[in-house]
Amino acid sequence: MKKVSFAEFGGPDVLRLIDAEKPHPGPGQIRIAVRAAGVNPVDWRIREGQVLGAHPTELPAGVGIDAAGIVDEVGAGVEGVEVGDHVFGEGADTYAEFAVLGAWARMPGGLTFEEAAGYPSVVETALRVIREVGVEPGQTLLVSGAAGGVGSAVLQIARDRGIEVIGTASAANQDYLRGLGALATTYGDGWTERVRRLGPVDAALDLSGSGVVPELVELTGDPRKVVTIADLGASAFGVRFSGVAGSVPDALAEAAALIARGKLHIPVARSYTLGEAAAAHLDSKAGHTRGRRVIVV
Ligand SMILES: NC(=O)c1ccc[n+]([C@@H]2O[C@H](COP(=O)([O-])OP(=O)(O)OC[C@H]3O[C@@H](n4cnc5c(N)ncnc54)[C@H](OP(=O)(O)O)[C@@H]3O)[C@@H](O)[C@H]2O)c1
Repeated sequence: MKKVSFAEFGGPDVLRLIDAEKPHPGPGQIRIAVRAAGVNPVDWRIREGQVLGAHPTELPAGVGIDAAGIVDEVGAGVEGVEVGDHVFGEGADTYAEFAVLGAWARMPGGLTFEEAAGYPSVVETALRVIREVGVEPGQTLLVSGAAGGVGSAVLQIARDRGIEVIGTASAANQDYLRGLGALATTYGDGWTERVRRLGPVDAALDLSGSGVVPELVELTGDPRKVVTIADLGASAFGVRFSGVAGSVPDALAEAAALIARGKLHIPVARSYTLGEAAAAHLDSKAGHTRGRRVIVV
């Protein structure tokens, strides 16, 4: 099979499309014929050797966590899924023609493989940070960096729960945020004043790591009402960094229910082939993805 791999940490040029043996699922795992793999910022962070504490990586290594595809082998002890089922989930080395998943759910009807590959990590993260920040229906959640994958999911899940949302994004994404039911404003000079004009804020999420944690504390009045997923310096301001994943199967089940009710849609910003993985990483790192980038196999 074809698989994206790298033999040294570094820039996108270390990525190679190689021939490899098909992997086999261990107990509690499944193998899928990958139809699409989601491109997450953590994929290029691992490739750069940035996050090896949280993601120990032996070289040569494959790339990718999220995927959607067709089950073609089932590991020992797995129940409730059969060869031929269409699933989306999380595993390892998903930028490949075949990959092993450790957590999955049946794909909701009406979703393409390409769309489905964009959901798993994004929805797990969104549900986790909404839970950890402790925001209640009727309260207002400020989301810094609201137009990306995680932001798109946070906005829609929060609105579905009756939480008001103010999101920050570039000028190009203001209408996108409004379309997801949020009040929107731009980041950059004067942004805290623009947020204040939109109303008081009960809790805040930093999803972009753009150095705004002190302002989020100021706007909420309490560091315990702020959570970041992207600023490792946040503890200096008494703010939690959320980095420990919750249950992926639970997140996928909730995503499937929201999708079925028409309450959650993560747009595909752009699709790439396996041979274009380096371009996908460059574009993701540029930092202005709306929704999710996806590799189509
Ligand atoms: N700790 C964890 O568990 C965890 C989990 C998932 C992701 N993450 C991290 O969280 C971050 C977001 O992930 P993602 O998948 O949502 O990324 P993404 O899809 O690449 O989105 C990034 C978003 O950041 C926005 N942005 C860029 N500059 C900004 C600024 N100065 N202020 C506010 N927003 C800005 C962009 O919107 P515009 O185009 O409008 O600028 C873009 O939509 C990444 O750094 C990722 O590594 C951490």
